[in-house]
Amino acid sequence: MRLRRSMRKFTDVPLTPEQVETLMRSALMSPSSKGKHAWHFVVVDEKAQLAALSRCKSAGADFVADAPLAIVVCGDPTESDVWIEDASVAATVLMYQAEDMGLGACWVQLRQRYDAEGTPAEDNVRAICGIPAELQPVAVVAVGHKGMERKPFNEERLLWEKVHIGTF
Ligand SMILES: Cc1cc2nc3c(=O)[nH]c(=O)nc-3n(C[C@H](O)[C@H](O)[C@H](O)COP(=O)(O)O)c2cc1C
Repeated sequence: MRLRRSMRKFTDVPLTPEQVETLMRSALMSPSSKGKHAWHFVVVDEKAQLAALSRCKSAGADFVADAPLAIVVCGDPTESDVWIEDASVAATVLMYQAEDMGLGACWVQLRQRYDAEGTPAEDNVRAICGIPAELQPVAVVAVGHKGMERKPFNEERLLWEKVHIGTF
């Protein structure tokens, strides 16, 4: 928690199959509402596919092209009415698992985001990864070896005023 920062710059070192398996093992252990596991994951390491994902929306995804790995986290509304929460928890677990392994990661938002032509980012990601129409891509989590140093969170700036004891 103290060390994780969003990482948008990666080295060229690929992840090992064992590292990818560890990441996905953690995602599959994510807590989910009623234990319904209302998610699917698409693991992407093809350069051309990563480049296409980096263009899924008009801004904020460029760095995916230079990541060795991207995990598309999809929610499954056919499994649960709280698929957004299930998918978001899994994406968060992936980011902290990456940090625990000394890797860097960053969430790329898809819902409510569009490319320059106004096409929803989710539709672009569905097309790029062959994701069935009934699933909802929620996030692309880019993962790789850190390409720069980032300072840990400055705990003097924690927003304690947002913590309300007993009543608001
Ligand atoms: C729901 C969510 C969506 C995000 N979307 C993006 C995104 O599309 N592109 C990006 O570069 N960072 C994205 N981020 C990363 C945030 O910008 C980042 O977490 C925030 O600025 C705080 O910085 P830190 O993670 O380094 O502490 C997202 C984070 C969350 C939680």
